[in-house]
Amino acid sequence: MNIGGRLIAGSAQSPLKGCVSVPGDKSMSHRAVMLASLADGVTEIHGFLPGEDNLATASMFEQMGVRIDWLNDAKTSLRIHGVGLHGLSAPKKMLDAGNSGTCVRLMTGVLAGQGFPSTITGDASLCKRPMRRVTDPVSRMGASVDGDDGGNLLPITITGGKLKAIHHVSEVASAQVKSCMLLAGLYAEGETTVREPRATRDHTERMLPLFGQPVVVDADGVIHLNPAGKLTAPKAPIHIPADPSSATFFAVAATLVPDSEVTLEQVGMNPLRNGWIRILAGMGGQLSLMNKGKVGEEKVADIHAIHTPLHGLKVNPADVPDAIDEFPVIFAAASLADGEFLLADAEELRVKESDRIAVMAKALIAAGADVTEYPDGARIIGGKLKGGCTVDAEGDHRIAMAMAVAAQCSEAEISIDNAAAIATSFPDFVPLAQSIGMNVRWEAP
Ligand code: S3P
Repeated sequence: MNIGGRLIAGSAQSPLKGCVSVPGDKSMSHRAVMLASLADGVTEIHGFLPGEDNLATASMFEQMGVRIDWLNDAKTSLRIHGVGLHGLSAPKKMLDAGNSGTCVRLMTGVLAGQGFPSTITGDASLCKRPMRRVTDPVSRMGASVDGDDGGNLLPITITGGKLKAIHHVSEVASAQVKSCMLLAGLYAEGETTVREPRATRDHTERMLPLFGQPVVVDADGVIHLNPAGKLTAPKAPIHIPADPSSATFFAVAATLVPDSEVTLEQVGMNPLRNGWIRILAGMGGQLSLMNKGKVGEEKVADIHAIHTPLHGLKVNPADVPDAIDEFPVIFAAASLADGEFLLADAEELRVKESDRIAVMAKALIAAGADVTEYPDGARIIGGKLKGGCTVDAEGDHRIAMAMAVAAQCSEAEISIDNAAAIATSFPDFVPLAQSIGMNVRWEAP
C-alpha cells in the first residue's frame, strides 16, 4: 500500500455506491489490549484496529513482558497472554505512544500502579498536548510524576507506588481522563469515583466487567470502581465492532455526493459516540440504521446513507462530547450545506491531534469556504467549494480524511499535505474510499 504524505482528492466522478466494512474501533482496541495484558489468562481479540495508535499500545505491553500472538497477517486478530495486574516488568527503554493521546493518557493510569518507574513519550504533536488532566489526579493517588511544565508535557516519567483511591471531579468531559482513573483505580486502596461534567464514551466501563471487574454508575452519573484485586481473561473472545469515527467519513461523503447510496456494515452504536448522527440528521441528512444488534456489551447497526441536500444547524452543546472526533468532517459537510452552521462549547477541539478548529478553518477557507473561528467553535456559512488549492492536514488523520470528503464536491482538486497520519486510525482509508467511488489517491512522495 502506498501511504505517502500527500493525498489528492477531487470531485466524485459518479455517485458513491457500495457496502463497506470499516476497520475496528480505535478506542475499544486500546482498551481490549490493556485489559487483556493486565488480566490473568489468555484473551483472544477479533476486529482489532491495526492502526499505528493501537500498535503503539500493543508494543508497550510487549516491552513490559506481555506475549502477543498475531493470528493473521492483517493484525486484526490476536491472542494476548495476560500477566496479571502485578506481572508487568520494567521497560528497558522509553515507551513511545506515537500520535496517540488515548494510549498515553490511559497508560498513565496503568503505569501509576506499577512498582517501577517508566518514561512515556510521543511524537511532536503529542508532546504539545496537555497531560496535567491525568498526571495531577494520579499524583494525588500517590504516584510520582515528572515532566516538563509540572508534569503537563511529554516525556513524563511515572513512578508508581501504593495508590490511594480518590474521588475525582474532572473539569473536562474526557473519556481518556475517566479511563485513566479507572485503570489506576484497579491498583488503589479503596473506592475510586469519577464525576464528569458531561457523560463521555463508556467503553472502559462496559469492558471492565467482561474481565470480572464491576463498575457502577450511580443515578448522578458518578462512576464507582471498587477494585476486585485482579482481572480475569474472559472465556469468550472479545469482538470489536467497526469504528463509527471511521464510518462517518463515508456516511458524510454519501450524503454530499448526488445520487449516492452507501452502507456501512455493523458499526459501533455506543450512545455516547453517535452525536454525529444526530447532528447530521439535524442538518437534513438521511441515515437509516438497520440490522441492529449487539457485539459484546456494545450496540451495532448497519448505517445506510443516501444523498440529501444539507442545511446549517446550531449544534446542541449536549451533543459535543458525543461527536468530539467527528467535527472535522462535520465542518466539511457544513461548508457544503445551505446556510449557517454554528458550533460553540467545543474548545477541546483545540487540543486534539491538531488544533482542529484552526486547522480545519484554514483548510476550508483555502478551499473557498466562509469560516469564522471562535475560541470554542466556529461559524460556517455553507455554499460551494472551489478547491484548486493545497491544504495542510498538519499531521492530523481526521483533518486529512475530512478534507478528502470535502473535495468530493469541490470544483477543482484539493491537494492535502501531511496526510500520512491517516495510518494512525484508518490505514485502509484510501482503498476503501476508492471502492465506493470516492475520487482520492496518494501522490507518490
Ligand atoms: C477517546 C476519547 C476522546 C477522543 C479520542 C478517543 C478514548 O478524547 O477524542 O479520540 O478512546 O477515550 P478525550 O477523552 O480527550 O475527549
